Amino acid sequence: MMNLSNRPRRNRKSAAMRGLMRETSLSAANLIYPMFVQEGETNSPIESLPGCTRWCVADIAAECCLLYQLGIPCVDLFAVVPEHKKDAQGTEAWNPEGVVPRAIRAIKKAVPQMLVMTDVALDPFNTYGQDGLVREYEDGSYEILNDETVEALCRQALCHARAGVDVISPSDMMDGRVSAIRAALDAEGFTHVSILSYTAKYASAFYGPFRGALGSAPKFGDKKTYQMDPANRREALREAAADVAEGADMLMVKPATMYLDVIADLRANTTLPIAAYHVSGEYLMIKAAAASGWLDERSCMMEALLSIRRAGADMILTYAAPQVALWLAEDSTAN
Ligand code: PBG
Repeated sequence: MMNLSNRPRRNRKSAAMRGLMRETSLSAANLIYPMFVQEGETNSPIESLPGCTRWCVADIAAECCLLYQLGIPCVDLFAVVPEHKKDAQGTEAWNPEGVVPRAIRAIKKAVPQMLVMTDVALDPFNTYGQDGLVREYEDGSYEILNDETVEALCRQALCHARAGVDVISPSDMMDGRVSAIRAALDAEGFTHVSILSYTAKYASAFYGPFRGALGSAPKFGDKKTYQMDPANRREALREAAADVAEGADMLMVKPATMYLDVIADLRANTTLPIAAYHVSGEYLMIKAAAASGWLDERSCMMEALLSIRRAGADMILTYAAPQVALWLAEDSTAN
C-alpha cells in the first residue's frame, strides 16, 4: 500500500461526489441562439450549418416561442440580404422595413419576455462583404473607413432600437463604435438598450460556414485591418479596456474554444459579464465529425461548451442552443 495522504480520486468516487465537486455548470439560461432571417414567406435549411435555418419573418416569432419554452432567454438576429438589395453603402442596414426590424417587432409581440439581440455591422448589406464602408483607390487598393463606418453603425443601431431591440451587438471591430452607439441611443431616449460589444473578435477562418449561410464573404481582400490577429493575446486587454471605458454592458470573445486563454484573461481583468461566440466553424467541426461517426456529438458539444464556461464566459452564443437545451432538460428529468 502506498503511503499517500493526498488521494484526489476520493473526490471523484461516485456520481454524487463528482456532483458536489463540480466547479462549472452549463444551463439553457447561459445560451444565446444566433438566428438568420430572410425575405419572403418560406424557410430554408442552411447546408453549411446543419440544424440551422434561414427563417422568414412570419415564422421566426413562433420558433422563438418554442425556444423560450426550452429555457433559451435570448436570440441574436442576422439578416440574409438578397444581392439586389445590397449597395456600396449598405443602406438596407437601416431600412425600417428590413427583415431585422420586422423580425424584432414580430418576436417582441409574440414573446415579449424573449431578449432580442441584433448584430450590427455592414457586411451582409454592402456589395463588398466588408463590415465597414470601403474606399477604393485607383491603384486597386482599398481602405475600410473607420469614422464614416461608425456613423452608419449608429443609424443601423437606432433602426433596431426603434423596432424594440433589447441588446445591440456591434461585430464590426471599428474603433470608437461603442461610445458612438451609446450616445446615439441615449440621444433618442433608448437608455435601456444594452450593448454587447464584440471586444476581441479575431480574423478567423472559422467564420467560413457563416459567410456561406449569409452570402456575406468579402468580395475581395480580408478583414485583417479591423479584426484581430489570432497571434495576439495582450491586445485583447487593450480592446477590453477601451470597451469598458466607452460604456459597453457586456464584452465578447470570438471565436470561443480556440481563444479560451483570451476569455480567461478578460474574466480576470473586468467585472463586466463576458460572452463567447462558439462560431460556425467550431460548431461544424463537431457536427461533421459526428455525422461521419468519428465523434459522439452530444458529449463533444457539451464538453466544448462547458470548457467555454470554465474559462470564464457567462454566456455562450451557439448554433447548438436548441439541441443543448433539450439535452439539459433530458438530463434533469433523468436525475
Ligand atoms: C460579421 C459577423 C461574422 C460572424 C458574426 N458576425 C463573420 C465575419 O466577421 O466575417 C461570424 C459568426 C460565425 O462564424 O458563426 N459581422
